[in-house]
Amino acid sequence: MIDQFGREINYARISVTDRCNLRCRYCMPECGVKKISHNEILSLEEVLRVAKIFSQLGIKKIRLTGGEPLLRKNLPSLIRELKNISSIEQVTLTTNGVLLKTFAQELIAAGLDGVNLSLDTLEEKIFTDLTRRKLFNNVLESFQTLLGKNLRLKINCVPLCGVNDGEILKLATLAKNNPIKVRFIELMPIGCAWESGLRGIPTAEIFSMLENNFGELLPIDKKNSLQGPAKYFQPKNFVGQIGFIDALEHKFCGSCNRIRLTAEGFLKTCLSFDTGLDVKNLLRSGENDDKILEKIREAIYCKPKEHFFDGATKFQMYQVGG
Ligand code: GTP
Ligand code: 5AD
Ligand code: SF4
Repeated sequence: MIDQFGREINYARISVTDRCNLRCRYCMPECGVKKISHNEILSLEEVLRVAKIFSQLGIKKIRLTGGEPLLRKNLPSLIRELKNISSIEQVTLTTNGVLLKTFAQELIAAGLDGVNLSLDTLEEKIFTDLTRRKLFNNVLESFQTLLGKNLRLKINCVPLCGVNDGEILKLATLAKNNPIKVRFIELMPIGCAWESGLRGIPTAEIFSMLENNFGELLPIDKKNSLQGPAKYFQPKNFVGQIGFIDALEHKFCGSCNRIRLTAEGFLKTCLSFDTGLDVKNLLRSGENDDKILEKIREAIYCKPKEHFFDGATKFQMYQVGG
């Protein structure tokens, strides 16, 4: 569907849990998330019901997020059901990779189209300091397992001053011989990131670091309308690509195509605002699908024009899935 600013909304990010098995300093507090009862989280049946309504409104791509989505039981069967919705063209996953090796086969068999893997460093020590968990080898093995599979694979790295500056070239080099996208994301001042004191490295700095090392980064045209906010480039002799998500330096809101559903069933129409709709309440109050669809349509139509990070959103990144 088209929103009030003429943008085509065709992409839903659905968070299936706010829990995580890592504690990345820019995302999660050391003590983890406030425990909420099982009943407060949408059941997988409810998620599927909302996804079907979304699809009737023109959503064609669903990205499952968390927290860490692989902590949710029966995720492969949800993926299979989502893939069975005829107008859904892609179902993808954003994960920290800790459990990915274990589930890779099942996820692929369920029809998963792509994985975005968070990997801020290739050094075990930096990983352990940043995530506060000794699970680096699980993530590395997951990455290696996925390389040989027929899946779209993207790496997400958030460059942080004084933390992983020395890792940028190593991570980018992964795209030299592998058909993957390695993306550098500007740290957005939301929740823990706002409070952590960590400073992101601006895209312009990363860009020149890469050009100085690999030569000119040639821009790649956007291939389809289901793509997210990353801009892609390819140095000569690279099989894969380098991407940048520069939410602070350049707003990409004019071409935003997405909505978000939190694990608690709130439809969030922009990452940085709390505007949206309590879908869980509607689902559980006995409303029929047509009525819920109309309410969702109204909420999406009013999607804010652009993001504005002032630390005011009450949502944390782990609740929204990025
Ligand atoms: P694909 O294009 O489908 O791969 O999606 P993606 O790159 O948006 O997905 P991913 O879950 O890997 O998110 C990567 C980063 O982009 C995360 O840091 C997200 O917070 C950020 N991001 C995704 N969507 C938006 C958005 O609408 N606004 C802003 N500011 N950041 C976003
Ligand atoms: N700013 C930018 N990216 C973030 N992520 C988590 N918190 C932030 C933040 N404050 C990233 C993770 C993951 C993706 C879902 O979002 O690194 O790759
Ligand atoms: Fe977990 Fe991802 Fe947040 Fe790290 S960034 S704590 S992996 S949800």
